[in-house]
Amino acid sequence: MTTGAKILSALRANPDGVSGAQLAEHLAISRAAIWARMDDLRAAGYDIAASPHFGYKLVGSPDALHADDLLARLNKTKIIGRDIRVFEETSSTNDVAEKLARDGVKEGVVVFAESQTKGRGRLGRKWLSPTHQGLWFSVLLRPNFRPQETTQLTVISATALRRAIKTVCGLAADIKWPNDILIGGKKVAGILTEMSAEVDRVRHVILGIGVDVNQDVAEFPAELRKIATSLKIEAGEEITRAELATEILRELDFDYARVCAGKFSAVADEWEAACVTIGKNVTVHCGDRKFRGYAEALDDDGALLVRTEHGHLERVIGGDVMLEK
Ligand code: BTN
Repeated sequence: MTTGAKILSALRANPDGVSGAQLAEHLAISRAAIWARMDDLRAAGYDIAASPHFGYKLVGSPDALHADDLLARLNKTKIIGRDIRVFEETSSTNDVAEKLARDGVKEGVVVFAESQTKGRGRLGRKWLSPTHQGLWFSVLLRPNFRPQETTQLTVISATALRRAIKTVCGLAADIKWPNDILIGGKKVAGILTEMSAEVDRVRHVILGIGVDVNQDVAEFPAELRKIATSLKIEAGEEITRAELATEILRELDFDYARVCAGKFSAVADEWEAACVTIGKNVTVHCGDRKFRGYAEALDDDGALLVRTEHGHLERVIGGDVMLEK
């Protein structure tokens, strides 16, 4: 953790205040250094009161995402979020994470951007990423997986998102295979899983996650209003993005440990229970191919098993799956 993160962590752990002397001792740095870091944090928008009576006290945090603050709130995860980087603007956080992967950065690094100029979704679609209104981030992972097992990571992203949304916003979200998180039938978050692999081994995976957090209805383009929503619209109040971000990372870290320990079936059960696709008649579009069927279950790798009209069981690992009315 950086010094800034350690200070924020100590301030959050001591809501009634902590003295400069205690901080200096705890962090093993001088009081002058503490003073200087406090000024940096204030410049970044943190409202930190100081008095001889209570010492330093965190009175308010900015809405902007800040790596030190996210690290402090996260307060240690096994892998995901041990390194966090925040950009004001990028083309796509998946591209930044891909570059970090090629540079040999360790798995678990998370790249957030306050806005993306070239945010992308599945199947080459554009992903709108308006400034400070959502969570747009990517996680670099290096699992010891076969390429076909990578779908498991999309599955754990969905279960993690769902639990975090429940904890922070009190909202019950549904999962639509493979990568959509819905509330009341409207999409609130999406997952874009990209990987680099050899024939039988994954080199790395980038999990790109986009969550529409604080947009109002009028801020969605007219053509999206019927199919997309934000957590603020559904909860009826502004959501603290940093709190949601860290809860998602904590849940993702938990599920990543589960799948790496070979316990995918526990996650898959949770996923199936929340999935609106299972048990429905669906139309599957896969490249040029289109077929109808009944979505029966997930297989061990996270693929969707669809019983076609002709009775064959198809393993669906990509494409678009539309629910029939
Ligand atoms: C989808 O629903 O099609 C997936 C959307 C994924 C969007 C996120 S935002 C952060 C990351 N960077 C991107 O360019 N895309 C993903």
